[in-house]
Amino acid sequence: MEKFAKRKEFLAFCRPTIQRDEIEEVVASLESGWITTGPKVARLEEDFMQWSGGQEAIAVNSATAGLHLALATLDLKPGEEVITSPITWPSTVNNIEICNGVTVFADVDRQTLQILPESVESAVTGRTRAVIPVHFAGAPCDLAPLRDICRRHNLDLIEDAAHAVGTMYGEELVGSKSEVAVFSFHPIKNMTTGEGGMILCSDSERSRRMRRLRFHGISRDAWKRYAKGGLPQYEVIEPGYKYNMLDIQAAIGIHQFRKLDSFNRRRKELAENYFKLLKDVPEIMPLLPPDYPHRHAWHLFVVRLDTDAVSIDRDEFMLRLQEKNIGTGLHFPAVHLQKYYREKYGFRRGMFPNAEWNSDRLFSLPLYPLLEEEDQEYVVRCLKVIIEKYRKKGAGC
Ligand SMILES: Cc1ncc(COP(=O)(O)O)c(C=O)c1O
Repeated sequence: MEKFAKRKEFLAFCRPTIQRDEIEEVVASLESGWITTGPKVARLEEDFMQWSGGQEAIAVNSATAGLHLALATLDLKPGEEVITSPITWPSTVNNIEICNGVTVFADVDRQTLQILPESVESAVTGRTRAVIPVHFAGAPCDLAPLRDICRRHNLDLIEDAAHAVGTMYGEELVGSKSEVAVFSFHPIKNMTTGEGGMILCSDSERSRRMRRLRFHGISRDAWKRYAKGGLPQYEVIEPGYKYNMLDIQAAIGIHQFRKLDSFNRRRKELAENYFKLLKDVPEIMPLLPPDYPHRHAWHLFVVRLDTDAVSIDRDEFMLRLQEKNIGTGLHFPAVHLQKYYREKYGFRRGMFPNAEWNSDRLFSLPLYPLLEEEDQEYVVRCLKVIIEKYRKKGAGC
C-alpha cells in the first residue's frame, strides 16, 4: 500500500460557496432598513416562478416548514394515512405525525434509494390521503408511476425535493409540474439561504392558503402592512405559523440561484470523478443513478460499505475516516427504526429490507463545488487504506 501524509486540515463533509455578491447583497439588505420578508423574498419567489414555468412559489424558512404547510393544507382527519420513504430526513415523516396523520412506509429501491412505486401501490388503503416521495440525493424518484397511483386512488402527491433543486425527470424540471414540491436551502444543499426553502405549487387556491399559513394565518404579511402604501390592519383567517423567509436570507438566495447551474455542473464533474476513482474499490458501493431518463443534481454522493468484507461496521469506518481528517455524512438511517416510530407503530427490522440493508451500510462522501479533485483522491486513498487494514481474512484480494 502506497504511503502518503495525513491531511493537516479537516476536509469538511460540506461547505457552502459564498462569494462577494452574496455578501454585498446581504449588506445592502441590512443597510436598507428592511431586513425581514420584503422585496428580496418577492424577487426570489419571482425567480422560481419564472424558472418553473409559472408555478406559484412560496419562500419559507426551511423545507421542514414547507412540508408542514403542504401537509397542513390536507386537513387530515384522524386515522388518515400518508405514505413516504423510510430513507429520509426525520422532518419528512415527523410532519405527518404533527399533522395528526398515520405514517405508512413503502420500501425503496436497493440501489437508488428511490421509493418503489410498487411498494407504494401495495401500501395504499381506503384511508390513504397522500404520498410523499423523496427525490433522494439529487436524483428524481419515478414520478410517472407515482402520479398514476395517486390519480387512480385520488391521493395528493407532495414531492420532498429538498435534495433536488435543478434535478430533471426526463424533460421535466422537478417542481415545474408538481402539485406541491418543496426545496431546501439549508447550507449543505445545492443552493443556500443559510436556512430556507421554497414551495412550488400548481394550485393557486392551495398556494394562497399556504402563503397565509406561512405568516400566522393573517390576511396581510409585514411587507404589505408596513411598506409605503401598505395598511397595518389585518385579519386572522385561520391560526397559522411563523415560517416566513427573511430578506437577509433571500439576499443570499438570489445570487445562489443564479449560480445553481454552474454549482450543479461542478457537482456532476466531481461525482463522475468519484465513480472513476472508486472503480477498483469494490468494498465501497456508490448508489446507482436511476435507469429512467433524468438529470441528477448530485446533492449527495452516497456509498455503501461492504460490511461482509471488513471487520468493522459503518460507524467505526466513519470514525477511521475522521481520524484521517475526513468528514462524512449519514443520509439516512431508516426512520422506521427510530425510537418514536418503533414504539408508536411497532415497526421492526425485516419490514423494509432494502431500506434496512442500506441504513446499516451507507454514508456520504464530501461533495460540494469547492471540493478539489485532489481532495477526492485523498478520500479514496484513505478508504483503501482503511479497507486494507480491516479486511476480513479470506475476503477479496
Ligand atoms: C429529504 C429531506 N427532506 C427535508 C429536509 C428538511 O430540510 P430543511 O433543513 O430545509 O428543513 C431535509 C434536510 O436535510 C432532507 O434531507
